[in-house]
Amino acid sequence: MPEQAVAGRVLSVASECVPLLKTGGLADVVGALPKALAAHGWDMRVLMPAYRGLAGRLEGATEVWTGGDVFGGPAIVLGGRVDGVAMLLLSAPHLYDREGGPYSAGGRDHPDNPERFAALSWVAAEIARGGLGDGWRPDILHAHDWQGGLAPAYLRYGGAGGVKSVITIHNIAFQGLAPAWKLAGLQLPGSQFYPDALEYYGNISALKAGLVTADAITTVSPTYAEELMRPEFGMGLQGVIAARAARVRGILNGVDAEVWDPATDTEILPYDLRRLKAKAANRARLMEEFGLSGVTGPLAIVVSRLTDQKGIDLIPAVLPDFVAAGGGLAVLGSGDPGLEGALHEAARRFPGRVAVKIGYDERLSHRMFAGGDAVLVPSRFEPCGLTQMYGLRYGTLPVVAATGGLADTVISASPMALAAGAATGIAFHPTDALAFGQALRRLCALFAEPAVWAGMQRAAMRQPVGWEASSAAYAALYAELRG
Ligand code: ADP
Ligand code: GLC
Repeated sequence: MPEQAVAGRVLSVASECVPLLKTGGLADVVGALPKALAAHGWDMRVLMPAYRGLAGRLEGATEVWTGGDVFGGPAIVLGGRVDGVAMLLLSAPHLYDREGGPYSAGGRDHPDNPERFAALSWVAAEIARGGLGDGWRPDILHAHDWQGGLAPAYLRYGGAGGVKSVITIHNIAFQGLAPAWKLAGLQLPGSQFYPDALEYYGNISALKAGLVTADAITTVSPTYAEELMRPEFGMGLQGVIAARAARVRGILNGVDAEVWDPATDTEILPYDLRRLKAKAANRARLMEEFGLSGVTGPLAIVVSRLTDQKGIDLIPAVLPDFVAAGGGLAVLGSGDPGLEGALHEAARRFPGRVAVKIGYDERLSHRMFAGGDAVLVPSRFEPCGLTQMYGLRYGTLPVVAATGGLADTVISASPMALAAGAATGIAFHPTDALAFGQALRRLCALFAEPAVWAGMQRAAMRQPVGWEASSAAYAALYAELRG
């Protein structure tokens, strides 16, 4: 590492990482951490599966680990770089070289997902213990979500050799369950199959295994760290997490401030704090792109996975009042077919005022953040959330449910916050159609006062949402663990 002594080495293990593969914010965060931590002297490599077609994208690929038979077939690890990030790809064709997405094909989970991600975690623990062929060996093993959950467990059960482990919860809704009879096949010790260890209501839970064996637990916002200890949010694991409260930390995600910068974004007509008027031209373009017209109130956008978590089902209920008040809505997302259908139905009901594009389109999402007045995030739970932070960067005010990372990143427009010039959006509670509808009424009222609105936009755009503070928090945690 140039100019700076190496503070230590971290092996990060996850099922997705930008730019190689992304289905959600997990990939953004796993891809951002190595660069953010490098600024603090930490040398991080990311281990993920070599899904079909990925190995060819590694620059300078070399074999750095050879495993022989790993969970039923040959496996090697290829090391190389992608966009400046040091990547390790676990090539095990019997597990990862197949049709479909990383977790499912044709709408059905891959039946061997427990083995696929156990293998990833097992190899991570082996590398943590023995190092790579090029002499690299980590001080810290950092696992993400259930797919990396068994890594701290394998490390602990097989002898950690001084390596410390961290697990980060990005989404507790997925717990990596496998039937108990798979215990031996997953190379887990039968002696650990009891409720204070691997067992979870008669099954094996990869996430729980990580939570009980890692030296530290983090999640992606301080509020979610507290929520997780309650039954409403812990999804059955609240007791496990609460029992280890002293080792739990909430560290807010950041966003890539270079990729998400309205002043340099090549996808849009650039603007910044001093040239906010140019945002109006982006708005006009976006209205045209979505076939919208006659929007006299705020133009709202949604860029999201369409799932129950995200509260998308509340949107049709709040639209009649919002549209009557002059509002418009442009949605980009994909997911639950029922929710896609409900959004299409809303677009049919309010032609010219509500429009929906089903799909995944990174570039379009930039045009939406530039052209929208507000971004809606009515999540039922949200460990951190990234789109409200893109909204802040682009002066596109977030209207969010006051939960998890949404509550930690948006300063709601209370009279005091407005008077102090601090308000950056609107946060509502609870996550239901009544509170959401009231928040949208408030949005329309604020939008009707141009000076107040512009003041909020400026406060939003000034709010720091990069990785500076959070990367320092991770660096401090690693240093503390290593001792
Ligand atoms: P989650 O990981 O729960 O889906 P986040 O807000 O943390 O939620 O991250 C979602 C990421 O995926 C953001 O970068 C968001 O812009 C992006 N995204 C979600 N849906 C789409 C889509 N349809 N098109 C483009 N980007 C999307
Ligand atoms: C998960 C969460 C989201 C978070 C992301 C990255 O997908 O749903 O809130 O921002 O992980 O940590």
